[in-house]
Amino acid sequence: MGVYKIAVLKGDGIGPEIVEASLLVLKRVGEIFGHDFVLEEGLIGGKAIDEKCTPLPQETLDLCLKADAVLLGAVGGPKWDNLPTDKRPEKGLLGIRKALDLYANLRPAKVYTALIDASPLKKEIAQGTDFIVVRELTGDLYYGEPRGIFRNGERYAINTMHYTESQIRRVVRKAFEIARVRRKKLTSVDKSNVLEVSALWREIVEEEKQNFPDVDVEHLYVDNCAMQIIKRPSTFDVIVTGNMFGDILSDEAAVISGSLGMLPSASLGDKHALYEPVHGSAPDIAGKGIANPIATILSVAMMLKYSFGLEKESSVIEQAVERVLQMGYRTPDISSEGTTVVGTTEMAQLISKEVEKLC
Ligand code: NAI
Ligand code: MG
Repeated sequence: MGVYKIAVLKGDGIGPEIVEASLLVLKRVGEIFGHDFVLEEGLIGGKAIDEKCTPLPQETLDLCLKADAVLLGAVGGPKWDNLPTDKRPEKGLLGIRKALDLYANLRPAKVYTALIDASPLKKEIAQGTDFIVVRELTGDLYYGEPRGIFRNGERYAINTMHYTESQIRRVVRKAFEIARVRRKKLTSVDKSNVLEVSALWREIVEEEKQNFPDVDVEHLYVDNCAMQIIKRPSTFDVIVTGNMFGDILSDEAAVISGSLGMLPSASLGDKHALYEPVHGSAPDIAGKGIANPIATILSVAMMLKYSFGLEKESSVIEQAVERVLQMGYRTPDISSEGTTVVGTTEMAQLISKEVEKLC
């Protein structure tokens, strides 16, 4: 029995629908296991711009800072597309990530047996795929100085790959901790045959390995890893890498499962964490009650596991999702011949019912 404070930011487009659906499942888990999930709502994104003239009101930020975890739907939509970049809904999200010092982005790549035909990979290869990419978020080419486009006769441009020891160490540690509650295998990805930053990265992984003797470690060059993800995806458990390589590899990993509506994510720091589906606000289907809530429901499952240490509760949700898919229920985005199409709320109710049966 525990009390957990969750900041709920529904956001724009399908955000409110999918978040409400995921809360049905969370509440059921709370009732069954005797946990008290205290939910407090805040405005973010387009809706916050409309009501408070800023994508990230101070109240929302305070709410997130006080909460044990943040659950977010999605932000943005055509209504706000013409605003200048620094006033757009997405700015709200960037602001939260920064204020909460979220330095590790977790993107799972999982292939569900019931949806295996949606994977672009051959069945035999896709089968059993279940890994997580842990991408560092605060360093690398994205923030390194000097940067810019210059002229000295001809034009030239500079970006600087920059990492400090502590930036690398904290994300590597996080990845080891995640591997520990999974299948205890860590793949560290770098380009240490060419880059000094990568040589330091590899050194620190080797040092940290001493603290996690129960975790198997492999090192791969990023170009090789990109190939291995396609050739043997089911052999990976946790992949940890820098911001730039992680950007690319996490998108590569995302397509393996074959459906955007199924992909959860987490962004973790030392004191805070934010959970959200990978997809956006899907304005084309907003308000129709047909959005797939599974990515958000699985984000809730990640929250239970990584923020609250509730591994049993988390895995019950994952199993319930799997069973509902096995039973043939689908939202329109993942439907195929012979399946039963259901709406957003119905999908969440079906998953809640399976949660109940599993307990
Ligand atoms: P999107 O992910 O919202 O939609 C892409 C396509 O996938 C659409 O056809 C949509 O209907 C479908 N889709 C997405 N999620 C779905 C779900 N749960 N169930 C069923 N179908 C789903 O990406 P798009 O269209 O590029 O962006 C739309 C808006 O979302 C933009 O304003 C964009 O800036 C914003 N966005 C926000 C993100 C966030 O809040 N983290 C991330 C990505 C985009
Ligand atoms: Mg990307």
